Parts: sequence; structure tokens; C-alpha cells
Amino acid sequence: MKQAQLADLSVGRLGLGAMGMSVAYSVGGFDDAESIRTIHRAVDLGVTLIDTAEVYGPFVNEELLARALQGRRDQVVLATKFGLISHTGRNSPDSSPASIRVAVDGSLKRLATDHIDLYYQHRLDRDTPIEDTVGELAELVTAGKIRHIGLSEVGVHTIRRAHAVHPITAVQSEYSLWTRDQEGEILPLLRELGIGFVAYSPLGRGFLTGSIRSNAELPDSDYRKTNPRFFDENFQHNLNSADELRDISAEVGATPAQVALAWLLAKGRDIVPIPGTKRVARLEENVGADTVELTTDQLARLDQLTPAAGGHHAEAQMAWIDR
Ligand SMILES: NC(=O)c1ccc[n+]([C@@H]2O[C@H](COP(=O)([O-])OP(=O)(O)OC[C@H]3O[C@@H](n4cnc5c(N)ncnc54)[C@H](OP(=O)(O)O)[C@@H]3O)[C@@H](O)[C@H]2O)c1
Repeated sequence: MKQAQLADLSVGRLGLGAMGMSVAYSVGGFDDAESIRTIHRAVDLGVTLIDTAEVYGPFVNEELLARALQGRRDQVVLATKFGLISHTGRNSPDSSPASIRVAVDGSLKRLATDHIDLYYQHRLDRDTPIEDTVGELAELVTAGKIRHIGLSEVGVHTIRRAHAVHPITAVQSEYSLWTRDQEGEILPLLRELGIGFVAYSPLGRGFLTGSIRSNAELPDSDYRKTNPRFFDENFQHNLNSADELRDISAEVGATPAQVALAWLLAKGRDIVPIPGTKRVARLEENVGADTVELTTDQLARLDQLTPAAGGHHAEAQMAWIDR
């Protein structure tokens, strides 16, 4: 697999998101054995960046990764996140130094490792100055518990303030054919500062693959039932973009998932999509995006895809996103 550069951190240019192996996308159920096979196949195919978080489960997704990575830990760049679970008794995002100190030791233990390669703040904590958070993370770098610092769903002011305390390696936010708001101010700033970008939900939570044609297919326990883009009227509208993507993909001779990922890869060698799947066959399909070349005309048509209707998170979650 070709490589990408997140600041000074080199990774395979397609990563793997592990969240859906334990939570969120319940359609088809959860199967740890197939998830572990998927992680092994990913490593064999050159995927290095593997993404989890303390809050996924909570906790069990990190434990699953530890089981999968026995004997393979050194072949991957392990990324996890803190801050959506408070270890100081708050009921809001908590990135206070006291909470981070408990969080990091918990993640290290569950991941069965002595260091985390990339440690992200999951959401901005509006009650702790970002300088205090990054100051604590810088101490964890010095102590060798973490190697690189990341932020997730943050705005330009937070990025500048954080980067002034300690170099930030990557910002992880939602970016895909139907979530383009990173292109305005965030990506230019990251390029100015030399910070990499990790694109989460690059397949529009599975929607862009064309495999979900009706929201009635999703069980009530599936996270997407709470996501405005999957509500009835929005869902019907959004099928237009899935259809447009399907038509362009047929012309390219690749699957919609591959074209959605290749479009992101074409945006720059500092952008790493982390598609999530818990199935070997889909992992192999997604990794195939590494060899898909899109023409200038195809890229331009993809840029013009019908924009999505509906917010990319429910309102309560949008309040945690820093803009
Ligand atoms: N920083 C944050 O706040 C944040 C938020 C959300 C996610 N993330 C991270 O980003 C990762 C990826 O995002 P995501 O999982 O939300 O969304 P995604 O990658 O856009 O989509 C995942 C969904 O697509 C399906 N899928 C994957 N490949 C497919 C294919 N080739 N054909 C058909 N369906 C396919 C998966 O189903 P199966 O698993 O059944 O194959 C799953 O339901 C997560 O795993 C997580 O690590 C971070």
C-alpha cells in the first residue's frame, strides 16, 4: 500500500476504523472472531493505522484490538481517544489533566501495550483550556506513554492554540463525499501548520456504498436510526447522491466504496481515510481503493455530487463539535 504522511508519522494511506466491531452499527450483529480476522487481513494488506477509542463499548473495543494484535503490535500505528468518558465525575466531555491521567493508563492496560502511537482528544472540553489538555499530553509524550498527539472535531482557533503548546500530528474529523465542511478553513490551516488529517466515516457510515437502500433495513439499536441523514425525508433525498456515485463508479470500473475512498485519497497525501468494517471481504474491497485512479473529469463530477440533506450528527452531539 502507498504511504501517507501525518506530520512526521508515516502510515499506510488507508487505515481501519474499529468502532463498528463493537458498537454503533448493529445490523448483522457483532462477531469478534470475524472482526479479528478482519484486523489480521488489514495488517497483511499494509494497513497500519488502526483506530479505536476508550468510549467505544465503552472499553471493549480496545480490548478486542489487544486480542487481535497479539504478536502484531509492532506492525501497526495504534490510535485511541480519550475525553468522552469523565474520570473526575463530570457528565460532559472531560479533558482535564486529572481525567487524562486515569484515561491513558486504562487505555494502555486494555490495549496491552506500553505506548499509544497516536492519542486523540475525542471532543473539545469547554471547561478545560486546550493549553492545559495539550500540556498534560506533552508530559505523556515525555514519559513515553504516547508518541503523537491528535485532536478530533475541533475548529481553527483550538487547532492554533493547541499546536502552539506541542506539535499536533493529526486532526480527525468527519470527511467524505457527503460531509465536506473540512475543506473551507480546516484543511488549509492544517497544511499551513504541517498537521495531517484523518477522515472518519469516509463511507458516510456505510450509506455511500449503496448497500443501504431503505432506512427500514436498520434495527432500532443501530446508531444510524438517530442520525438525521437517515431520517425518512432526508434519506430519500440522499439516495440521489448514492445513485450518482454508483453511476460514476460503474464508469470507473470500481465499487462505490472504492471510489468514495479514492476521491479522498486524491485530495492529498496528508489525508488518511479510516473506513470501518468488521468483515474481511469488505476490508479487501476497501483496501482496493489504493489502486483506483480517478480522472480529472471524474473527480470534478464527484465534487459536484448532490449535497446531503440532514446534519451529520444529532443535535445533542453537534453541540460538542467545535467550530
Ligand atoms: N472521531 C470521531 O468522533 C469518530 C466518529 C465516528 C467514527 N470514527 C472512527 O472512524 C471509523 C470509520 O467511520 P465509521 O465506521 O463511522 O463509518 P464508515 O467507515 O463511513 O462506514 C462504516 C459502515 O460501512 C459499512 N461498510 C464498510 N465497508 C463497506 C463496503 N465495502 N460495502 C458496504 N458497506 C461497507 C460497515 O459495515 P460492516 O462493518 O458491517 O462491514 C459500517 O456499517 C470508525 O470505525 C471510528 O474508528 C471516529
